[in-house]
Amino acid sequence: MTQQQRTALVTGGNRGLGEAIARALHDAGHAVIVAHTPGNRTVAGWIEAQARQGYSFAAYGVDVSDYESAQQMARNVRADGRQVDILVNNAGITRDATLRKLEKAGWDAVLRTNLDSTFNVTKPFIDAMLQRGWGRIVNISSINGSKGQFGQTNYSASKAGVHGFTMALAQETARKGVTVNTVAPGYLDTEMVAAVPAETRQRIVDAIPVGRLGKPAEVAALVAFIASDAAAFMTGSKVSMNGGQHMA
Ligand code: CAA
Repeated sequence: MTQQQRTALVTGGNRGLGEAIARALHDAGHAVIVAHTPGNRTVAGWIEAQARQGYSFAAYGVDVSDYESAQQMARNVRADGRQVDILVNNAGITRDATLRKLEKAGWDAVLRTNLDSTFNVTKPFIDAMLQRGWGRIVNISSINGSKGQFGQTNYSASKAGVHGFTMALAQETARKGVTVNTVAPGYLDTEMVAAVPAETRQRIVDAIPVGRLGKPAEVAALVAFIASDAAAFMTGSKVSMNGGQHMA
């Protein structure tokens, strides 16, 4: 597959699925910017460790749940002479609880971080993509945005909302060379899934037809394809990768 080198920005790109996506885009020959939580003290060490493995990343702090913070991050990126051609809205959190126990703060944090963030972070980059006539936006949803999940009214709502955003924006940008797609991973071998109580997690894994958790690199390879020139005809899609746990 021949393709031009672009610049990609991955939110939450320093851990879990985001880290795998950052590495896959780097492997595909792109320059990669990793956006991480502001003041994150682990990032410098992480960048050094990645560099020792041959991966060079630029890094910017941003609170994706905050509109002004995202604007400022975009200004910082531009001030450093970087343009963003590929945006992966990956940053996300869980605050699992049944609705009866879920506090307003747990609803707000998840909706703001997982859903408002797609608006906050896409907004400052979309105009330039449209002007250049090329762009790729990949929004990370979840199997639980498609099927719902006990204990995740907040997360499921946010992840279903992500695909609504994708479908609407895809229509607005289709004529201008900018594709917008959703990737909906199932349960992956990440810290987020490791945080699910062991017994519950085992029950979930037992229900995955492939019989194991997914590897972040497996989902990252899909994101790299969607970000490539080869995927120009693909827009407004939701692509699932969940080991057969939810087939729709
Ligand atoms: N369906 C129906 N009933 C269920 C159930 C289910 N899936 N799970 C639990 N219950 C029942 C229990 O049997 C229990 O019933 P009784 O009161 O009659 O005994 C009742 O619901 C309460 O269950 P819990 O004890 O589990 O309640 P809790 O308040 O202690 O915990 C919870 C609730 C925190 C949501 C816990 O169930 C949990 O963590 N579940 C996992 C949620 C999950 O899958 N999160 C995914 C995180 S990873 C991620 O989000 C990434 C991604 O995109 C995939």
